[in-house]
Amino acid sequence: MSRKRETVLVTGSSSGIGLDIARGFLEKGFNVVLNARNEKKLSEAARVLGQDNPIAWVAGDIGNKETGEKMVRAAVDRFGGVNVLVNNAGIFGVKPFLENSEEDLDAFIHTNLKGTYFVSQAAVRQMKKQGGGSIVNIGTVLVLHPTASLPATAPLVTKGGVHALTTSLASELAADNIRVNAVAAGTIRTPLWGDADVDSFSGTTLMNRVGEVGEITEAVFNLAASSFTTGVILPVDGGYVHGRS
Ligand SMILES: NC(=O)c1ccc[n+]([C@@H]2O[C@H](COP(=O)([O-])OP(=O)(O)OC[C@H]3O[C@@H](n4cnc5c(N)ncnc54)[C@H](OP(=O)(O)O)[C@@H]3O)[C@@H](O)[C@H]2O)c1
Repeated sequence: MSRKRETVLVTGSSSGIGLDIARGFLEKGFNVVLNARNEKKLSEAARVLGQDNPIAWVAGDIGNKETGEKMVRAAVDRFGGVNVLVNNAGIFGVKPFLENSEEDLDAFIHTNLKGTYFVSQAAVRQMKKQGGGSIVNIGTVLVLHPTASLPATAPLVTKGGVHALTTSLASELAADNIRVNAVAAGTIRTPLWGDADVDSFSGTTLMNRVGEVGEITEAVFNLAASSFTTGVILPVDGGYVHGRS
C-alpha cells in the first residue's frame, strides 16, 4: 500500500539553504510549498526544482502575518494539509553594536523573529487540526558562541529569540503531538555571504572547513523525522562551538 505524500512548508526557499532543503524534501517524496519575497527568483527556484514535481509557491514577506496563512492555505488546497514546517528565511549582517539604528534592529526583528513566529502560528493552527506535525527552525551557532570578529548583536538577538521559541514551543505543543527543534547552523557556503571569502572561516571549525547546504538539509530532515526528539537545538557547524584556534 502506498503511503500518502506528506507536505513541508519551507520559508526562504529561493536561495541557499532553503532551496536545498526544498530539493532534499522533494527527493524524500514530500510535497513542498516554497516561499520568498522576490517572486521572480522564487518562480525560477520552482523551475530549477522541476516543474513536474509537487511544488506550490507563495511569494511574500514572512514578517507579514498573511504570508504564513497563505502558505498554509496553499498546502491545504493543493496537497491536503501541512506535516512539516521549516522556518528557514532569515537575514544576517555584521555591524558593531553602537552603529545599529532603530531601522537596522527593526529589520531583523521583522524577518527573523516576527516572521518565524507568524508562520509558526499559521502552521500550528493547521497541525493541531491534523493531530500533529513537526517544526524545524534555522538558528545559528553564533547565539551559542559569539565571536568578536563578527559583531552582530542585531541579528543575533533575534536568532536567540528563535532558539527560545524552539524550546518554549516544544514544551507547549508536545501535548498536541507537535515537535519543535532547531538547527544551529555554522558557517555555510550560500549567497548570504555575498562577495566575502567564506573559506576564510575554515580555521574556526574542528573540521577545518565551512559547511555545504546539503549538510544542513540532512540535519533538518533527520530532526523532522526523529519521532522522540523535541526541544533540541542541534549545532551543525563542523565543531565550531568547540573551537580550533
Ligand atoms: N549561510 C550561513 O552561513 C548561515 C549561518 C547560520 C544561519 N544561517 C541561517 O540560515 C537561513 C538561510 O540562510 P542562507 O545562507 O541560505 O541565506 P540566503 O541565501 O540569503 O537565502 C535567504 C532566503 O530567505 C529569503 N528571505 C529573506 N527575508 C525574507 C522575508 N522577510 N520573507 C520571506 N523570505 C525571506 C530570501 O529570498 P528574498 O530575499 O527574495 O525574500 C532567500 O530565499 C537564514 O535564517 C540564516 O540566518 C545561515
